[in-house]
Order: sequence, then structure tokens, then C-alpha cells
Amino acid sequence: MTAAPDEPNRQAREAWDANARFWDERMGEGNDFVERLCWPALERLLGPRPGERILDVACGNGLTSRRLAAAGARVVAIDFSVPMIERARARTPAGSAVEYRVLDATDEGALLALGERAFEGALSNMALMDMAEVAPLFRALARLLRPESRFAFSVMHPAFNSPHARLYAEAEERGRDVVMHYGVRVDGYRSTEPARGFAIRGQPEAQFYFHRPLAALLAPAFDAGFVLDALEEPAFTEADRDDRRGPHWNNSTEIPPVLVARLRGPAGGR
Ligand SMILES: C[S@@+](CC[C@H](N)C(=O)[O-])C[C@H]1O[C@@H](n2cnc3c(N)ncnc32)[C@H](O)[C@@H]1O
Repeated sequence: MTAAPDEPNRQAREAWDANARFWDERMGEGNDFVERLCWPALERLLGPRPGERILDVACGNGLTSRRLAAAGARVVAIDFSVPMIERARARTPAGSAVEYRVLDATDEGALLALGERAFEGALSNMALMDMAEVAPLFRALARLLRPESRFAFSVMHPAFNSPHARLYAEAEERGRDVVMHYGVRVDGYRSTEPARGFAIRGQPEAQFYFHRPLAALLAPAFDAGFVLDALEEPAFTEADRDDRRGPHWNNSTEIPPVLVARLRGPAGGR
């Protein structure tokens, strides 16, 4: 029997529903990845301005939505997981300029119902690789955004941080010293088979990863009329290093686990 076309998306949503509480409690208002890598780059690339209407795509517990609101933006924040949106609402102070909606970002029609040209910017933190499809989102964003508006997103770096990558640590004896080397071994890049994994040790359910090589990730954005106009590859630094953690992203200071990009919408809009 062949799986229904929306089967991976349904299974991905069920996993996020099951993980929502654990994820919210662990992430709180942000972990090392958010604080040190994703948010500084996203904030730089998006540059949210007071009064702007910003769409936060796959907002999870709303940690970036609240940051955008704190910068003065009026935020519409969407996620397809009902329990995740409940967590986001519970965390957000009354009167804050964030409006949460349960909405599947693979559903182009539902996205467009948010209002064509209704947003001056959009953001998505560490979520595109969790989405079964991204083409409907890019097509919709080209119409949801005002002409030349920007979409800033972060993802697990497709080249280094994917289900096909393994972190390693090697000890080199150099005279009386032991020098540690940390790196990544990648034995797959082109495959787009969905994979399951645990982003946070101990989470109840394995989540789905929809790894895409860079060309596959960006092709539907280019097809929708976006141009790539900024790119950052943040990595942890020596200050984050802790040899006791062994092979860990905090120690792989030469390798960016995250890619942050800005896409600019079509000049005349779509
Ligand atoms: C790794 S979490 C990141 C959440 C949040 N952006 C953050 O910074 O903490 C990925 C999120 O993507 C959401 N997600 C995955 N696929 C989605 C889809 N098709 N539509 C909307 N949300 C989706 C999940 O429910 C989950 O909240």
C-alpha cells in the first residue's frame, strides 16, 4: 500500500503534538542555539522595526514571536500543532502584540487567507527542515509579503547538521599535551528521504526531519520570485567550548550548525 501524499506531514504533526509540552519546558525562552546563533543573526537580517506586521512561521512556543513583539512589531504567529500554540499562548503576556493561529504552513490556501500583502516581513526559526514541503510556503509568502519585503530564516545547516552527519572528537597527543579535535563526518547530502530523530535528548517522540540540499531548499523560493540577499553561518566560539561535553556543537567551533538567510520578495510583488 502506498502512503497518502500528506502522510509525512500528518506524522510530523503528531510528533510535534506529542513533544509540545517537553519542548516548551526545555526551550523556555531560548537555548544556546537560539541565544548564541539563531536570534542574533535573524534579528540582524530581518531588522524588525516598530509597527511592522511580521509573520512568524512555525513559531513553536512563541519564543521568537515574543522577541519580535518586544522589538515593537505586530506579530501573527502560526504553527500546525494545537498543543504548541496552547503553550505559546500560555507563555505570552496578555496585551502583547502577538496573535497566534493554528495553521499548517504546507497549506497554501490557508496561508493566503492571512491576507495578501499584509506583512512587511516574515521570519522562521529552525523549522523549514521540519516541514514536509516548503514550496507552498514560498509561493504563499511571495503574495503575503509586500513587494521587496524580506523573509529571514534559520535552519539546521544542510551541509553539516543533518540526519546524515555525525559529530566526532579525536584526541591527539602532542608532546606532553593532548589536543582535542572536534568535527563532523557527513556521509549523505543529496538524499531527501525523510528521517526521524531526537533534537533534544529525552523528548517523548522522534520528530521528522525533511533534510534538503541547499539547491533543493532554495529552488522553490527562487521559483516564487525571491532572491537571496544575505547569508550567515554562525558557529559557537572558543568561549562556548567545554571539553567535558565531548563531541558536541559547542566544541565544533569551526563548523556552523546553523544557516541563516534572508530572501527578498519580488519587486512588483506576485
Ligand atoms: C524546531 S521547532 C521550532 C519552533 C520555533 N520556531 C522556535 O524557534 O522554537 C519546529 C516547529 O515547526 C512546527 N512545524 C513543523 N511543520 C509545520 C507545518 N507544516 N506548519 C506549521 N508548523 C510546522 C512544529 O510544530 C514546531 O513547533
